[in-house]
Amino acid sequence: MKSFKSIPGTFDILPDGYSAGGDTIAPSRMWRHLEAVVHRIMASYGAEEIRTPILEPTELIARGIGALTDIVTKEMFAFERGSTHYVMRPEVTAPVMRSYLQHNLAQRGGTQRLYYIGPCFRAERPQKGRYRQFHQFGLEVIGSEDARADAEAITSLRDVIRELGLKQYTLRLNSLGDADSRPAYKAALVDFLTPKADQLSDISRKRLETNPLRILDTKSEKEQALLADAPLLSDFIDESSREHHEMVKELLTDVGVDFVEDPFLVRGLDYYSRTAFEFESPLLGAQSSFAGGGRYDLLSKEVGSKQVVPAVGFAAGMERILLACAAEEIAGPHRTVVDVFIVALGDAAMKWTFEGAARLRESGLDVAFDLKGRSMKAQMREANRQEARFVAIVGDDELAAGEVQLKDMSTGEQSSVSLTDIPTRVNA
Ligand code: HAM
Repeated sequence: MKSFKSIPGTFDILPDGYSAGGDTIAPSRMWRHLEAVVHRIMASYGAEEIRTPILEPTELIARGIGALTDIVTKEMFAFERGSTHYVMRPEVTAPVMRSYLQHNLAQRGGTQRLYYIGPCFRAERPQKGRYRQFHQFGLEVIGSEDARADAEAITSLRDVIRELGLKQYTLRLNSLGDADSRPAYKAALVDFLTPKADQLSDISRKRLETNPLRILDTKSEKEQALLADAPLLSDFIDESSREHHEMVKELLTDVGVDFVEDPFLVRGLDYYSRTAFEFESPLLGAQSSFAGGGRYDLLSKEVGSKQVVPAVGFAAGMERILLACAAEEIAGPHRTVVDVFIVALGDAAMKWTFEGAARLRESGLDVAFDLKGRSMKAQMREANRQEARFVAIVGDDELAAGEVQLKDMSTGEQSSVSLTDIPTRVNA
Protein backbone atom coordinates (compact mmCIF):
# COMPACT_ATOMS: atom_id res chain seq x y z
CA MET A 1 0.00 0.00 0.00
CA LYS A 2 1.20 3.49 -0.79
CA SER A 3 1.68 5.71 2.25
CA PHE A 4 1.76 9.48 2.28
CA LYS A 5 3.90 12.11 3.93
CA SER A 6 3.51 15.88 4.17
CA ILE A 7 5.23 17.82 1.37
CA PRO A 8 8.83 18.91 2.22
CA GLY A 9 8.75 22.44 3.60
CA THR A 10 5.26 21.99 5.08
CA PHE A 11 4.48 20.79 8.59
CA ASP A 12 1.71 19.33 10.69
CA ILE A 13 1.15 21.20 13.91
CA LEU A 14 0.40 18.58 16.55
CA PRO A 15 -0.78 18.60 20.19
CA ASP A 16 2.80 17.75 21.22
CA GLY A 17 5.86 19.43 19.73
CA TYR A 18 8.29 17.36 17.69
CA SER A 19 11.55 17.48 15.75
CA ALA A 20 11.71 17.09 11.98
CA GLY A 21 15.21 17.17 10.51
CA GLY A 22 16.87 20.23 12.03
CA ASP A 23 13.52 21.79 12.90
CA THR A 24 11.53 21.92 16.08
CA ILE A 25 7.82 22.24 15.50
CA ALA A 26 6.05 23.81 18.46
CA PRO A 27 2.94 22.17 19.95
CA SER A 28 -0.43 23.55 18.88
CA ARG A 29 -1.02 25.15 22.28
CA MET A 30 2.13 27.28 21.76
CA TRP A 31 0.70 28.45 18.43
CA ARG A 32 -2.56 29.37 20.15
CA HIS A 33 -0.62 31.19 22.84
CA LEU A 34 1.21 33.24 20.20
CA GLU A 35 -2.08 33.95 18.42
CA ALA A 36 -3.73 35.01 21.68
CA VAL A 37 -0.85 37.41 22.38
CA VAL A 38 -1.15 38.86 18.85
CA HIS A 39 -4.92 39.41 19.24
CA ARG A 40 -4.42 41.03 22.64
CA ILE A 41 -1.58 43.35 21.62
CA MET A 42 -3.29 44.35 18.36
CA ALA A 43 -6.45 45.20 20.33
CA SER A 44 -4.29 47.45 22.51
CA TYR A 45 -3.44 49.45 19.36
CA GLY A 46 -7.05 49.66 18.21
CA ALA A 47 -6.19 47.39 15.26
CA GLU A 48 -8.93 45.29 13.66
CA GLU A 49 -8.54 41.86 12.08
CA ILE A 50 -8.69 41.33 8.34
CA ARG A 51 -8.81 37.93 6.60
CA THR A 52 -8.07 37.78 2.90
CA PRO A 53 -8.12 34.71 0.61
CA ILE A 54 -5.16 32.38 0.14
CA LEU A 55 -5.69 32.64 -3.63
CA GLU A 56 -5.03 36.00 -5.26
CA PRO A 57 -4.64 37.18 -8.85
CA THR A 58 -1.03 36.51 -9.90
CA GLU A 59 -0.72 39.96 -11.39
CA LEU A 60 -1.55 41.62 -8.05
CA ILE A 61 1.47 39.94 -6.48
CA ALA A 62 3.77 40.48 -9.47
CA ARG A 63 2.93 44.19 -9.67
CA GLY A 64 2.77 44.68 -5.92
CA ILE A 65 5.97 42.95 -4.82
CA GLY A 66 7.91 43.66 -8.02
CA ALA A 67 8.39 41.58 -11.17
CA LEU A 68 12.16 41.20 -10.63
CA THR A 69 12.09 40.12 -6.99
CA ASP A 70 13.08 36.56 -5.97
CA ILE A 71 9.56 35.93 -4.74
CA VAL A 72 7.98 36.69 -8.09
CA THR A 73 10.63 35.23 -10.38
CA LYS A 74 11.34 32.02 -8.47
CA GLU A 75 9.10 31.38 -5.52
CA MET A 76 5.47 31.66 -6.50
CA PHE A 77 3.05 28.76 -6.29
CA ALA A 78 1.08 29.93 -9.30
CA PHE A 79 -1.22 28.13 -11.70
CA GLU A 80 -3.87 28.71 -14.31
CA ARG A 81 -7.46 27.52 -14.61
CA GLY A 82 -8.96 28.54 -17.91
CA SER A 83 -7.87 32.11 -18.48
CA THR A 84 -7.50 32.97 -14.79
CA HIS A 85 -4.04 33.13 -13.18
CA TYR A 86 -3.96 32.26 -9.50
CA VAL A 87 -1.19 32.55 -6.95
CA MET A 88 -1.12 31.21 -3.42
CA ARG A 89 -0.25 34.36 -1.52
CA PRO A 90 3.47 34.63 -0.70
CA GLU A 91 2.73 37.54 1.67
CA VAL A 92 -0.27 39.55 2.83
CA THR A 93 0.57 43.24 2.31
CA ALA A 94 -0.43 43.42 -1.37
CA PRO A 95 -3.65 41.43 -0.67
CA VAL A 96 -4.54 43.77 2.21
CA MET A 97 -3.99 46.81 -0.02
CA ARG A 98 -6.13 45.18 -2.72
CA SER A 99 -8.88 44.60 -0.20
CA TYR A 100 -8.59 48.15 1.16
CA LEU A 101 -9.02 49.57 -2.34
CA GLN A 102 -11.68 47.09 -3.46
CA HIS A 103 -13.92 47.81 -0.45
CA ASN A 104 -13.00 51.48 -0.22
CA LEU A 105 -12.07 51.11 3.42
CA ALA A 106 -10.92 54.74 3.41
CA GLN A 107 -14.64 55.51 3.69
CA ARG A 108 -14.62 54.19 7.25
CA GLY A 109 -12.65 57.33 8.07
CA GLY A 110 -9.34 57.86 9.81
CA THR A 111 -6.39 55.53 9.50
CA GLN A 112 -7.09 51.81 9.06
CA ARG A 113 -5.05 49.58 11.34
CA LEU A 114 -5.56 46.09 9.92
CA TYR A 115 -3.88 42.99 11.31
CA TYR A 116 -3.82 39.39 10.15
CA ILE A 117 -2.67 35.90 11.08
CA GLY A 118 -2.43 33.19 8.46
CA PRO A 119 -0.47 30.96 6.08
CA CYS A 120 1.72 32.12 3.18
CA PHE A 121 3.42 30.09 0.47
CA ARG A 122 6.82 30.44 -1.17
CA ALA A 123 8.48 27.77 -3.32
CA GLU A 124 11.86 28.09 -1.62
CA ARG A 125 14.42 25.39 -0.96
CA PRO A 126 13.34 24.13 2.47
CA GLN A 127 15.84 24.51 5.30
CA LYS A 128 15.74 25.39 8.98
CA GLY A 129 13.44 28.42 9.38
CA ARG A 130 12.62 28.50 5.66
CA TYR A 131 9.53 26.67 4.53
CA ARG A 132 7.12 26.40 1.62
CA GLN A 133 4.08 26.92 3.78
CA PHE A 134 4.75 29.23 6.69
CA HIS A 135 2.64 31.57 8.78
CA GLN A 136 2.74 35.29 9.28
CA PHE A 137 1.05 37.70 11.58
CA GLY A 138 1.25 41.32 10.59
CA LEU A 139 -0.16 44.80 10.86
CA GLU A 140 -0.80 47.26 8.05
CA VAL A 141 -1.45 50.89 8.99
CA ILE A 142 -3.08 52.38 5.92
CA GLY A 143 -3.84 56.02 5.18
CA SER A 144 -1.18 57.93 7.09
CA GLU A 145 2.29 59.22 6.30
CA ASP A 146 2.84 60.28 9.89
CA ALA A 147 6.08 58.97 11.43
CA ARG A 148 3.99 57.84 14.40
CA ALA A 149 2.41 55.21 12.13
CA ASP A 150 5.89 53.81 11.30
CA ALA A 151 6.83 53.81 14.97
CA GLU A 152 3.54 52.12 15.88
CA ALA A 153 4.17 49.28 13.42
CA ILE A 154 7.51 48.72 15.14
CA THR A 155 6.36 49.06 18.75
CA SER A 156 3.33 46.79 18.28
CA LEU A 157 5.64 44.06 17.00
CA ARG A 158 8.06 44.74 19.85
CA ASP A 159 5.14 44.46 22.31
CA VAL A 160 4.20 41.01 20.95
CA ILE A 161 7.80 39.82 21.27
CA ARG A 162 8.10 41.29 24.76
CA GLU A 163 4.84 39.71 25.89
CA LEU A 164 6.11 36.34 24.67
CA GLY A 165 9.20 36.80 26.80
CA LEU A 166 11.83 36.91 24.03
CA LYS A 167 14.94 38.79 25.11
CA GLN A 168 17.60 38.15 22.50
CA TYR A 169 16.76 40.18 19.44
CA THR A 170 17.95 43.21 17.51
CA LEU A 171 15.91 45.76 15.60
CA ARG A 172 17.70 47.03 12.49
CA LEU A 173 16.42 50.24 10.97
CA ASN A 174 17.05 52.16 7.76
CA SER A 175 15.42 54.71 5.49
CA LEU A 176 15.24 53.99 1.77
CA GLY A 177 14.25 57.55 0.88
CA ASP A 178 11.52 58.40 -1.59
CA ALA A 179 11.03 57.04 -5.10
CA ASP A 180 13.27 59.77 -6.58
CA SER A 181 16.26 59.25 -4.33
CA ARG A 182 16.56 55.56 -5.20
CA PRO A 183 17.52 55.83 -8.91
CA ALA A 184 20.42 58.19 -8.11
CA TYR A 185 21.69 55.85 -5.43
CA LYS A 186 21.22 52.80 -7.64
CA ALA A 187 23.34 54.46 -10.34
CA ALA A 188 26.08 55.31 -7.82
CA LEU A 189 26.11 51.76 -6.48
CA VAL A 190 26.30 50.27 -9.97
CA ASP A 191 29.19 52.67 -10.81
CA PHE A 192 30.99 51.55 -7.67
CA LEU A 193 30.45 47.81 -8.17
CA THR A 194 30.85 47.46 -11.95
CA PRO A 195 34.70 47.66 -11.90
CA LYS A 196 34.64 45.01 -9.12
CA ALA A 197 32.14 42.74 -10.88
CA ASP A 198 34.66 39.91 -11.29
CA GLN A 199 34.92 39.66 -7.50
CA LEU A 200 31.17 39.24 -7.09
CA SER A 201 29.25 35.96 -6.88
CA ASP A 202 27.16 34.87 -9.87
CA ILE A 203 23.95 35.91 -8.11
CA SER A 204 25.29 39.34 -7.22
CA ARG A 205 26.60 39.85 -10.77
CA LYS A 206 23.13 39.14 -12.06
CA ARG A 207 21.64 41.47 -9.47
CA LEU A 208 23.98 44.21 -10.61
CA GLU A 209 21.82 44.32 -13.72
CA THR A 210 18.40 43.48 -12.29
CA ASN A 211 18.19 44.67 -8.69
CA PRO A 212 21.54 46.12 -7.48
CA LEU A 213 20.25 47.20 -4.07
CA ARG A 214 19.75 43.56 -3.14
CA ILE A 215 23.55 43.06 -3.29
CA LEU A 216 23.73 45.07 -0.05
CA ASP A 217 21.91 42.17 1.59
CA THR A 218 24.73 39.72 0.85
CA LYS A 219 25.66 37.19 3.52
CA SER A 220 29.11 36.61 1.98
CA GLU A 221 31.91 38.12 4.07
CA LYS A 222 34.02 38.71 0.97
CA GLU A 223 31.25 40.77 -0.59
CA GLN A 224 30.55 42.57 2.67
CA ALA A 225 34.23 43.62 2.76
CA LEU A 226 33.92 44.80 -0.83
CA LEU A 227 30.93 46.90 0.15
CA ALA A 228 32.70 48.58 3.06
CA ASP A 229 33.51 51.64 0.91
CA ALA A 230 30.32 51.57 -1.13
CA PRO A 231 28.24 54.74 -1.37
CA LEU A 232 25.57 54.92 1.33
CA LEU A 233 21.89 55.25 0.62
CA SER A 234 21.66 57.66 3.55
CA ASP A 235 23.76 60.16 1.58
CA PHE A 236 21.25 60.10 -1.25
CA ILE A 237 17.91 60.35 0.49
CA ASP A 238 15.78 63.46 0.14
CA GLU A 239 15.39 66.01 2.92
CA SER A 240 11.79 65.20 3.85
CA SER A 241 12.57 61.46 4.08
CA ARG A 242 15.51 62.32 6.31
CA GLU A 243 13.28 64.38 8.62
CA HIS A 244 10.69 61.59 8.65
CA HIS A 245 13.40 59.09 9.57
CA GLU A 246 14.72 61.30 12.37
CA MET A 247 11.19 61.56 13.76
CA VAL A 248 10.69 57.76 13.67
CA LYS A 249 13.95 57.35 15.61
CA GLU A 250 12.96 59.99 18.18
CA LEU A 251 9.58 58.36 18.72
CA LEU A 252 11.17 54.95 19.24
CA THR A 253 13.66 56.46 21.67
CA ASP A 254 10.80 58.16 23.57
CA VAL A 255 9.25 54.77 24.36
CA GLY A 256 12.54 53.00 25.03
CA VAL A 257 12.79 50.85 21.89
CA ASP A 258 16.44 50.06 21.11
CA PHE A 259 17.49 49.92 17.48
CA VAL A 260 20.62 49.67 15.38
CA GLU A 261 20.92 51.84 12.30
CA ASP A 262 21.83 49.70 9.30
CA PRO A 263 22.52 51.67 6.14
CA PHE A 264 22.74 48.40 4.18
CA LEU A 265 19.30 47.16 5.15
CA VAL A 266 17.23 46.76 2.00
CA ARG A 267 14.23 44.49 1.86
CA GLY A 268 13.42 41.69 -0.57
CA LEU A 269 10.21 43.32 -1.80
CA ASP A 270 10.15 46.32 -4.13
CA TYR A 271 7.29 48.31 -2.65
CA TYR A 272 9.22 50.03 0.14
CA SER A 273 10.15 53.66 0.48
CA ARG A 274 11.41 55.54 3.54
CA THR A 275 11.27 53.33 6.67
CA ALA A 276 12.57 49.76 6.42
CA PHE A 277 13.25 47.51 9.39
CA GLU A 278 13.94 43.95 10.45
CA PHE A 279 13.98 42.10 13.74
CA GLU A 280 16.55 39.36 14.07
CA SER A 281 17.59 36.81 16.64
CA PRO A 282 21.17 35.52 17.04
CA LEU A 283 19.70 32.11 17.91
CA LEU A 284 18.11 31.35 14.53
CA GLY A 285 21.15 30.51 12.39
CA ALA A 286 21.09 31.49 8.73
CA GLN A 287 17.44 32.62 8.71
CA SER A 288 18.05 35.11 11.53
CA SER A 289 15.44 37.65 10.51
CA PHE A 290 12.09 36.77 12.10
CA ALA A 291 10.10 39.86 11.13
CA GLY A 292 10.35 42.74 8.74
CA GLY A 293 8.46 45.64 7.34
CA GLY A 294 8.46 49.25 6.38
CA ARG A 295 6.63 52.01 4.59
CA TYR A 296 5.12 51.31 1.19
CA ASP A 297 3.51 54.52 -0.05
CA LEU A 298 3.99 53.46 -3.68
CA LEU A 299 2.20 50.11 -3.54
CA SER A 300 -1.33 51.51 -3.86
CA LYS A 301 -0.64 53.01 -7.29
CA GLU A 302 1.09 49.84 -8.49
CA VAL A 303 -2.08 47.91 -7.74
CA GLY A 304 -4.55 50.26 -9.33
CA SER A 305 -5.27 53.19 -7.03
CA LYS A 306 -5.51 56.61 -8.68
CA GLN A 307 -4.22 58.28 -5.55
CA VAL A 308 -1.22 57.51 -3.42
CA VAL A 309 -2.39 55.80 -0.24
CA PRO A 310 0.44 56.11 2.27
CA ALA A 311 0.92 52.99 4.39
CA VAL A 312 3.35 51.18 6.64
CA GLY A 313 3.39 47.76 8.29
CA PHE A 314 5.23 44.63 9.27
CA ALA A 315 4.93 40.87 9.03
CA ALA A 316 6.50 38.35 11.38
CA GLY A 317 7.23 34.72 10.63
CA MET A 318 5.47 32.67 13.28
CA GLU A 319 7.64 29.56 12.83
CA ARG A 320 10.78 31.64 13.32
CA ILE A 321 9.36 33.36 16.40
CA LEU A 322 8.44 29.98 17.87
CA LEU A 323 11.93 28.66 17.06
CA ALA A 324 13.37 31.68 18.90
CA CYS A 325 11.03 30.94 21.84
CA ALA A 326 12.29 27.34 21.90
CA ALA A 327 15.91 28.55 21.73
CA GLU A 328 15.27 30.89 24.68
CA GLU A 329 13.51 28.04 26.49
CA ILE A 330 10.18 29.84 26.68
CA ALA A 331 7.73 27.04 27.33
CA GLY A 332 4.49 29.01 27.07
CA PRO A 333 1.36 27.98 28.89
CA HIS A 334 0.93 24.58 30.50
CA ARG A 335 -0.74 21.99 28.28
CA THR A 336 -4.53 21.89 28.25
CA VAL A 337 -5.92 19.84 31.10
CA VAL A 338 -9.38 18.45 31.59
CA ASP A 339 -11.07 19.27 34.88
CA VAL A 340 -12.60 15.83 35.28
CA PHE A 341 -11.83 12.45 33.74
CA ILE A 342 -14.58 9.90 34.37
CA VAL A 343 -13.36 6.37 35.04
CA ALA A 344 -16.17 3.81 34.68
CA LEU A 345 -16.41 0.20 35.83
CA GLY A 346 -19.18 -1.99 34.50
CA ASP A 347 -21.48 -1.73 31.50
CA ALA A 348 -24.13 0.52 33.03
CA ALA A 349 -21.49 2.94 34.36
CA MET A 350 -19.68 3.02 31.02
CA LYS A 351 -22.88 3.91 29.18
CA TRP A 352 -23.61 6.54 31.82
CA THR A 353 -20.26 8.33 31.29
CA PHE A 354 -21.74 9.91 28.18
CA GLU A 355 -24.68 11.46 30.01
CA GLY A 356 -22.60 12.26 33.12
CA ALA A 357 -19.99 14.10 31.04
CA ALA A 358 -22.74 16.04 29.24
CA ARG A 359 -24.20 17.22 32.56
CA LEU A 360 -20.80 18.24 33.93
CA ARG A 361 -19.98 20.12 30.72
CA GLU A 362 -23.24 22.05 31.10
CA SER A 363 -21.96 23.32 34.40
CA GLY A 364 -18.84 24.61 32.66
CA LEU A 365 -16.31 21.84 33.30
CA ASP A 366 -13.98 20.29 30.71
CA VAL A 367 -14.63 16.56 30.84
CA ALA A 368 -13.24 13.46 29.12
CA PHE A 369 -13.56 9.70 29.48
CA ASP A 370 -12.22 6.53 27.87
CA LEU A 371 -13.91 5.31 24.70
CA LYS A 372 -12.43 1.85 24.51
CA GLY A 373 -14.08 -0.02 27.40
CA ARG A 374 -10.67 -0.63 28.97
CA SER A 375 -9.61 -1.72 32.45
CA MET A 376 -9.60 0.68 35.38
CA LYS A 377 -5.80 0.79 35.27
CA ALA A 378 -5.81 1.76 31.58
CA GLN A 379 -8.44 4.42 32.22
CA MET A 380 -6.38 5.89 35.08
CA ARG A 381 -3.35 5.95 32.78
CA GLU A 382 -5.36 7.88 30.23
CA ALA A 383 -6.56 10.30 32.94
CA ASN A 384 -2.91 10.91 33.82
CA ARG A 385 -1.90 11.42 30.21
CA GLN A 386 -4.61 14.06 29.87
CA GLU A 387 -3.42 15.60 33.14
CA ALA A 388 -6.91 15.56 34.59
CA ARG A 389 -7.27 17.64 37.76
CA PHE A 390 -9.88 15.27 39.16
CA VAL A 391 -10.88 11.71 38.41
CA ALA A 392 -14.50 10.67 39.03
CA ILE A 393 -14.67 6.89 39.54
CA VAL A 394 -18.06 5.37 39.02
CA GLY A 395 -19.15 1.70 39.19
CA ASP A 396 -22.60 0.22 38.75
CA ASP A 397 -23.22 0.37 42.55
CA GLU A 398 -22.20 4.04 42.82
CA LEU A 399 -24.38 4.79 39.86
CA ALA A 400 -27.40 3.22 41.58
CA ALA A 401 -26.66 5.28 44.71
CA GLY A 402 -26.15 8.49 42.62
CA GLU A 403 -22.58 8.91 43.87
CA VAL A 404 -19.06 8.89 42.50
CA GLN A 405 -15.63 8.61 44.07
CA LEU A 406 -13.91 11.92 43.35
CA LYS A 407 -10.13 11.88 43.47
CA ASP A 408 -8.12 15.11 43.55
CA MET A 409 -5.10 14.18 41.45
CA SER A 410 -2.84 16.84 42.95
CA THR A 411 -3.38 15.78 46.59
CA GLY A 412 -4.49 12.16 46.10
CA GLU A 413 -7.50 12.82 48.38
CA GLN A 414 -10.57 10.77 47.57
CA SER A 415 -14.15 11.08 48.80
CA SER A 416 -17.64 10.10 47.89
CA VAL A 417 -19.72 12.93 46.37
CA SER A 418 -22.96 13.19 44.45
CA LEU A 419 -22.69 14.08 40.77
CA THR A 420 -24.33 17.46 41.31
CA ASP A 421 -21.68 18.37 43.91
CA ILE A 422 -18.72 17.78 41.57
CA PRO A 423 -18.65 21.30 40.06
CA THR A 424 -18.56 22.88 43.54
CA ARG A 425 -15.72 20.60 44.62
CA VAL A 426 -13.71 21.12 41.42
CA ASN A 427 -14.09 24.89 41.53
CA ALA A 428 -13.36 25.17 45.27
P1 HAM B 1 9.17 39.34 4.39
O1 HAM B 1 10.42 39.85 4.99
O2 HAM B 1 9.22 38.75 3.05
O3 HAM B 1 8.15 40.56 4.41
O4 HAM B 1 8.52 38.27 5.35
C1 HAM B 1 8.25 38.58 6.71
C2 HAM B 1 8.66 37.43 7.60
O5 HAM B 1 8.04 36.22 7.16
C3 HAM B 1 10.14 37.11 7.57
O6 HAM B 1 10.85 37.95 8.47
C4 HAM B 1 10.17 35.67 8.01
O7 HAM B 1 10.12 35.59 9.43
C5 HAM B 1 8.88 35.13 7.47
N1 HAM B 1 9.16 34.35 6.25
C6 HAM B 1 9.30 34.79 4.98
N2 HAM B 1 9.54 33.77 4.14
C7 HAM B 1 9.56 32.65 4.89
C8 HAM B 1 9.76 31.25 4.62
N3 HAM B 1 9.96 30.80 3.39
N4 HAM B 1 9.71 30.39 5.66
C9 HAM B 1 9.50 30.81 6.91
N5 HAM B 1 9.29 32.10 7.23
C10 HAM B 1 9.32 33.02 6.24
C11 HAM B 1 6.86 40.49 4.01
O8 HAM B 1 6.27 39.47 3.77
C12 HAM B 1 6.16 41.84 3.98
N6 HAM B 1 4.78 41.64 3.54
C13 HAM B 1 6.24 42.51 5.34
C14 HAM B 1 5.48 43.80 5.40
C15 HAM B 1 4.25 44.01 5.89
N7 HAM B 1 5.92 44.97 4.94
C16 HAM B 1 4.98 45.87 5.12
N8 HAM B 1 3.96 45.31 5.70
